[in-house]
Parts: sequence; C-alpha cells; structure tokens
Amino acid sequence: MRFSVVLGTRPEIVKMSPIVRELQRRGLDFALVHTGQHYSYEMDRVFFRDLELPEPTTNLEVGSGAHGAQTGKMLAGLERFFQESKPDVVLVQGDTNTVLAGALAAVKLGILVGHVEAGLRSFDRTMPEEINRVMADHVSDLLFAPTEVSASNLRAEGLPEERIHVTGNTIVDAVRENLEIAAGKGDTLGALGLREGGYILTTLHRQENVDSRDRLANILVGLERVGTETGLEIIWPMHPRAKKNLETFGLELPSRVRAVNPLGFLEFLQVEGAAALALTDSGGVQEESCILGVPCVTLRDNTERPETVKVGANVVVGTDPSRIVEGVRSMLPRRGGWACPLGESGAGGRIVDICLGRTNRG
Ligand code: UD1
Ligand code: UDP
Repeated sequence: MRFSVVLGTRPEIVKMSPIVRELQRRGLDFALVHTGQHYSYEMDRVFFRDLELPEPTTNLEVGSGAHGAQTGKMLAGLERFFQESKPDVVLVQGDTNTVLAGALAAVKLGILVGHVEAGLRSFDRTMPEEINRVMADHVSDLLFAPTEVSASNLRAEGLPEERIHVTGNTIVDAVRENLEIAAGKGDTLGALGLREGGYILTTLHRQENVDSRDRLANILVGLERVGTETGLEIIWPMHPRAKKNLETFGLELPSRVRAVNPLGFLEFLQVEGAAALALTDSGGVQEESCILGVPCVTLRDNTERPETVKVGANVVVGTDPSRIVEGVRSMLPRRGGWACPLGESGAGGRIVDICLGRTNRG
C-alpha cells in the first residue's frame, strides 16, 4: 500500500501535516510530493521546519506563473512521478492549482484519488479556488468532507453517497497539536512588540482582493478607519502577492498598520491566538481564529466556511470601508464562547483509515 501526498502551498503543508504524521506513526509507505507552487523560504521551508515534516520525496519546482501554465507544468511533472512510483492512492488537499493538477494527473492514470477538505463551496465561479475545488471533487474517489455542510454540497451536485466521508477538518489537530509547541518556542509577541489582546491581525492574499487596485485601496481605507476607531495597531504578515501589488499600485499603508514578513506557523499561531480580532481573506485564518476563540471579520463577498459564521465566530463584510468598520465594531467585544464547528480531533487518522479500507477492498 503506497500513498502519495501532494502539496505545494503553505496551507496545504499545514493541513496535510496531521496526515503525514499519521502515516509516519503507522509506518506506512508514502511519498511527499511538492509541486513547488510556493518556494520562498517563509512560504514553504519554514513550515517543514516548524511542523517537523520529512523532506519532500520530490519537488517539481514549478514556481509561479499564469494559471494554465502553472497547472500544466504540475500536471506533466505529477504524471511522470506517479507513473514511476505507482502509488495506490493519491491525496490532495484544498483548492489550489496544485490540488487540481494532483487530482487530474492521478485519476487519468486510474489511481485512487482522495480529496481532503472536499465539498467547500463559495458558489462564486469567478474565484480560481472554486473552479479547482469543484473539479477536484468531481474526479476524486474519496471525498473527505470536513463537515455536514460540505457533505451536503457534494450531495447537491449529485456526487454518490459512497464517495462522501465526513471526517472533520485536519486544521483542528494542526492548531491544537502545535499551539503548545508554539508556546514553548520563544516569545513571538515580545519580539514583535505586541501584547495580548492589544492588536488586530490582518492577512490578505486573495486574487480578487489584492490584484484589484480598487478593492485593495478600499481595504486600506477600511484598515485606516479601524485603526483610528479602535486605537489598536494592525499587524500584517504580508503575503508576497499583496506586497508585490501594493508596490505596483503605488499604495501606502495607513499609519496604524505595520507590515511584517510572513511568519512561520508557530510564530503565526501565537500572534493569531493573542489577537483582539482577525481581519482576513484567508480560508485557513477564518478556521484557525474560530478554533482559537478569536473573532474574525472576513474581507470577502462570500465564504466557503459558513459554519464559522453560523456559530458567531466570523462575519463576512466584503471590502467596503464602512462595512469593514461595522464588522469590527460588532465582533471586537466577542471572545470565544462558540463551539468549534470544524469537527473533532483525529481527522488525519480517520482519513488514513478510510484509504486503507478502500484499497484493501481493491
Ligand atoms: C495560492 C492559491 C490560493 C491559496 C494561496 C495560499 C491558487 C490558484 N491559489 O495563491 O488558493 O489560498 O496560495 O497562500 O492555487 N510568490 C512568492 N513566493 C512564493 C509563492 C508566491 O513570491 O513562494 C508570489 C509570486 O509573485 C506569485 C504570487 O506570489 O506570482 C502568487 O503566487 P501563487 O502561488 O500563484 O498564488 P497565491 O496567491 O500564493
Ligand atoms: N500562516 C502562517 N504565517 C503567515 C500567514 C499565514 O503560518 O504569515 C498560515 C496560517 O496559520 C494558515 C495558513 O498559513 O494555516 C493559511 O494560508 P493562506 O492564508 O496563505 O491560505 P488559505 O488558507 O487562504 O488558502
């Protein structure tokens, strides 16, 4: 029984880590296949270090590029790797170009494909991620839906019941297992000059936000007003895509906003867990803040994580400055008190069990 675990971007490294740990713990045969979609130290290597993951078996080093060119390179590289290594099951996670390429390369070779975090839907086909997740779900044999909401999205698209498995989200263990380790890894707050509850954390990288001058400029106005109204500093570990576009558009950061380089996972967890509030367009940050009891304001027009909104941990406000301020005003007084809607611990183990059961049956 041979597994191939495909990853390429920082959220995939984080969310695949509980599965990799489980495969290691059970002594199972697996390859870790990195597409190289993310490659900067702080978007890639730092996560292998922090999560103590084994070196990738191979790195295709595709790098950045237009969607088609990037996905095409991955597809060719992954096909070659799968033909040579002959895995029994290929696992992909989430909604990136890496996921689409991994699922497509494997299914065309007749290899069993498992999609971790299946069934999330923003119902917004202008998002590249929505296209990737719909495509990946429809070619996968094993659909690991994190919640009943995601499972029902799959059923609504006519995907057969026997493919759908509600497992919980692997992010629950990635956060809980690493939070303790993070606390023992030095004083990140002190090093950044932050104090618990005394700042807002922001992250932005979504194509529809940071590639649009208007939307990005609106968000900056929103951040400025939030800073003025709350008196809190806004710390922004800046994704390279946002950094590049701020420069290209010639946009300045408001006075209370402090940009820092992207943080390693252990540092980020500390900063996230002690923030007064998260202002973000990240999928992972919406989930993690919900787990950590930190209120979240999502700078998007929709979310594929409605469970976090339903429990009162998250509001979706778009990019209009007034709505951003209103969202912060309503969420800032909250601090936890909601039940985590993303499933119990142990998703990684459940996913491995289901793969083993399926392949043993042939
Ligand atoms: C990708 C995913 C997105 C995911 C995000 C996680 C797709 C379509 N997008 O977006 O779903 O939420 O990763 O962070 O798969 N860059 C670097 N160093 C890196 C990687 C990227 O400098 O290591 C810069 C390059 O200028 C690149 C840009 O960031 O052009 C965008 O990178 P890309 O991987 O295309 O998309 P992300 O915005 O990272
Ligand atoms: N993250 C991190 N350092 C940062 C920003 C994010 O470690 O400076 C982690 C975060 O904890 C989460 C993941 O990166 O696990 C989210 O990645 P991102 O927002 O890039 O992608 P998305 O989740 O939106 O796909």
